[in-house]
Amino acid sequence: MTDTPRQTSHPVPDAERTWWKESVVYQIYPRSFADSDGDGIGDIPGIIDRLDHVADLGVDVIWLNPVYESPQRDNGYDISDYRSIHHEYGTMADWEELLAQVHERDMRLVMDLVVNHTSVDHEWFQRSRRGDPEYEDYYIWREARSDGPPNNWESFFGGSAWAYDEVRDAYYLHLYDESQPDLNWRNPAVREDIFETMRWWLEKGIDGFRMDVINLLSKAPGLPDGDPDADWVGSEQFVDGPWMLDYLEAMDEQVLSDYDILTVGEMPQLSVEKAREYAGEDGPLDMAFHFQHTKLDYDGDERWSVGDWDLPELKEITRRWHDGLADEGWNALYWENHDQPRVVSRYGDPEEYRRESATLLGTFMLTRSGTPYVYQGQELGMTNAQWDDAESLADVDARRTTEELLESGEYDSFEEVADVVGYRSRDNARTPMQWDDSDHAGFTDGEPWLPVNANYEQVNVASAREGDSVTAYYRSLIDLRTEYDAFVYGSYDDLHPDHERLAAYTQTLEHPDGRVSERMLSVLNFSDTTATVDVPTTLDGADLLLSNYDRDAISPTRDHEPYEARVYQLE
Ligand code: GLC
Repeated sequence: MTDTPRQTSHPVPDAERTWWKESVVYQIYPRSFADSDGDGIGDIPGIIDRLDHVADLGVDVIWLNPVYESPQRDNGYDISDYRSIHHEYGTMADWEELLAQVHERDMRLVMDLVVNHTSVDHEWFQRSRRGDPEYEDYYIWREARSDGPPNNWESFFGGSAWAYDEVRDAYYLHLYDESQPDLNWRNPAVREDIFETMRWWLEKGIDGFRMDVINLLSKAPGLPDGDPDADWVGSEQFVDGPWMLDYLEAMDEQVLSDYDILTVGEMPQLSVEKAREYAGEDGPLDMAFHFQHTKLDYDGDERWSVGDWDLPELKEITRRWHDGLADEGWNALYWENHDQPRVVSRYGDPEEYRRESATLLGTFMLTRSGTPYVYQGQELGMTNAQWDDAESLADVDARRTTEELLESGEYDSFEEVADVVGYRSRDNARTPMQWDDSDHAGFTDGEPWLPVNANYEQVNVASAREGDSVTAYYRSLIDLRTEYDAFVYGSYDDLHPDHERLAAYTQTLEHPDGRVSERMLSVLNFSDTTATVDVPTTLDGADLLLSNYDRDAISPTRDHEPYEARVYQLE
């Protein structure tokens, strides 16, 4: 290992260095992180109590899912007041304390910005439905079309994207749950109100925004019908709509550019080309989340299905995004979040090789350029949970889908849909954080709002403090990024695009004259059998920086154990 300090050894000019490129982000889902008052629901004082766990991982930034006042139909993505804290989570004073404590530990705090829609309980919607002249145009209202909804668009959660409101005697658009009406971004007053709210939070000292479904703000004029055969009917009329870039540029000009912050857009159906527009050199945002690698285990295009996935496809997606954003833009790297099932249960082996596959997947995410986002519990190798009956599901999306599947007449009972719904439900990511082996995994003294995963006695933070845990390995991965610029700023080269079981890639950092400054090689066996790698590069003089098997020196063997990951520094 070299011990030259980063500032002198690297060829990355200061002008290209940015703290958010060098950061690892940790995502906290407040409802499920830690409960301080025994009501079974996570809260802000609970997060403060557990901040040291997060700081000890070595992460730099926390992204907090929505903590604003909300009826919690969609766990806070249905906001009824943008400027107050949800009462079950604490008070504004608690939140201010959290911010101070995060900063005290040299970390930063990124808040969730949910401005495609509000809750129906938001005052704006209440006034809009009553026809208050100031607010009547704040949402997207339309008359019925031959007694039905104004067009054929669907909600992402299923069913029509329109709901009839008796008070106003008209339909309103909701791309998500019917309790989440879409704001009308064509109305300048809406934009101004949102920008004002953003400034209000930034003035409190936050360090950025994660922007919820932000590329859906602009809807095609006239709201034309969508292709009835599309996976999400209507999406071509509201994904990356006509004024989308204008809205974000205005947001940047009027708000974002005044602050040194991290901005990341969550963008359904995002392409590399669009990512370059939104988050390229002059783009309004810093980076964006795309979804392509989260669909590998669909059967075809259908979300509510489970299919086989293949490694060459994952590598193809990875390469395309690295190459596409190499000279323009920046990648956001993630496996999990509050909407995705646990990655070990998807692309790893949660039974026999939980530790090995969790660490291998962590290696893939944390040894490439981009900003990595670790979701709470991912650093423990948490797995999907068991869902035995429809009532045990809490997620509005999974519940609705279950209802629809059962109503379709194709299935007779929950058992028949349990495999798919249980695998795909967002509840898998939302089971309480596992702190120790006491009741409810130390998450609460009361009854948790969602049951704890049955494996909490083995998989928890306390037990991960000992031995070669997934958590300790994540810590090492994060340390590697801090120590070596190549993992952050290097260029990515896939050495084995077509291999079915192995991934082998380098991250290379060059001096301006082309000489190699740092070159890292990662070799990962994504399978449960021993695999021999033919790496087209010499390992002579290489240093083994990290492995999830007990190897303390460079091993001459090119055999890789099941789910083995090795990270080398090449000469
Ligand atoms: C995003 C959020 C998800 C939410 C949806 C509607 O995809 O991540 O949790 O349900 O937007 O706000």
